[in-house]
Amino acid sequence: MRTQVAIIGAGPAGLLLSRLLSLRGVDSIVVENRSRAHVEARIRAGVLEQGTADLLVEAGVGTRLRADGLRHDGVHLQWPGERRRIDFRALTGRSVWIHGQTEVVKELLAAREEEVHFSVSDTAVHDVTGPTPSVSFVDSSGTPRRITCSIVVGADGFHGVSRESIPAPLRTTWERDYPYAWLGILADVPPSTDELIYAWHPDGFALHSMRSTTRSRLYLQVDPGERIEDWPDDRVWSALATRLGLPGWELRAGPVLDKGITPMRSFVSTPMRHGALFLVGDAAHIVPPTGAKGLNLAVADVAVLAPALAEFFASGRTDLLDGYEERALRRVWRSTHFAWWMTAMLHTSPDPLDRPLQLSQLEYVCSSAAAATSLAENYVGLPH
Ligand code: FAD
Ligand code: DHB
Repeated sequence: MRTQVAIIGAGPAGLLLSRLLSLRGVDSIVVENRSRAHVEARIRAGVLEQGTADLLVEAGVGTRLRADGLRHDGVHLQWPGERRRIDFRALTGRSVWIHGQTEVVKELLAAREEEVHFSVSDTAVHDVTGPTPSVSFVDSSGTPRRITCSIVVGADGFHGVSRESIPAPLRTTWERDYPYAWLGILADVPPSTDELIYAWHPDGFALHSMRSTTRSRLYLQVDPGERIEDWPDDRVWSALATRLGLPGWELRAGPVLDKGITPMRSFVSTPMRHGALFLVGDAAHIVPPTGAKGLNLAVADVAVLAPALAEFFASGRTDLLDGYEERALRRVWRSTHFAWWMTAMLHTSPDPLDRPLQLSQLEYVCSSAAAATSLAENYVGLPH
């Protein structure tokens, strides 16, 4: 097979890149090691920055977002006895959109299905610093295949192969594992809140989010070694009710449709480019979920790379491609800091100094316009 851009990974980053390239007349092929059903069922992010939402609409893949997305003009921050609102709209003029990553991926897949090879194995990257870059893989019928191309894009997430194909001595990584994880549930019950609630509680952090006016998404801070079998639904609802509790407010419980535990990590790996190989999204960086940045960062990388690639194929100009890593990394580090900062403010730890510092910071963020604006502009996302 031959194409201009071989893309590894049919997550939001790989699929959106393929879509944006096709709109600019650039051919691409996507290889994905999981099945289509698996990719379409994975429940992940739910908060889209304004810039992410705008880009999806511009790319003609915002139909579901426009029909079903919920515009949120603020969030609630909570600690025992207090629930305070941060008004994004008033502070920044911008909002975020609540819309499941699952829905984004389904719409992107519908637009790109002919170009995606699912259920492949043994994906490998070849000769990205030489004259004949290619991606080899074994297709779903067991046949070895090879895509020759000008550019390879690694959009294969944290556990992919493309980052590892850059020689180890050339790579620098920054990494932190947090001493807690998130247990998340999707529940078939209308949200008990109009906007997201991020709650600090002595038992641990809790988050009330949603996917629609009828489905709730909720998270609990748990120990990283916790087993999902030890969290029957009753225990999850009871912990959520305690941590999100406020006099005069009630958490509605309902049937749990999905339940899982996610580790928390900050991770950045450079370079994001090695010869003809470009990394985008989780393949190059991971943030803890507290700032709702992971999906948005993946989209932001693609928003920089797609026009740079289009320019390269149209005119041979390489300056935009040469500037990709620097432009992408500026945003990566800003979001990495914001996600770390939100995480540090809201998660309980065994260190007794943390509690008064966190409560002081929460009070400050909710009472100073300057501090609230800083949180708001990072949360809604800096302009692309
Ligand atoms: P991925 O979505 O990981 O896609 C990579 C793809 O590559 C996958 O389909 C994978 O199967 C495939 N692949 C891997 N290896 C290979 C291989 N060798 N060959 C071929 N294909 C391969 N982000 C937010 O912005 N807001 C949120 O609210 C938010 N909440 C989250 C909640 C949870 C519980 C989790 C887990 C994540 C959350 N995130 C959030 C993060 C967000 O989901 C990720 O940052 C996002 O999926 C990154 O997209 P990606 O395309 O870079 O990588
Ligand atoms: C969701 C996930 C997040 O990480 C977050 O900060 C807010 C909302 C969600 O899945 O809805």
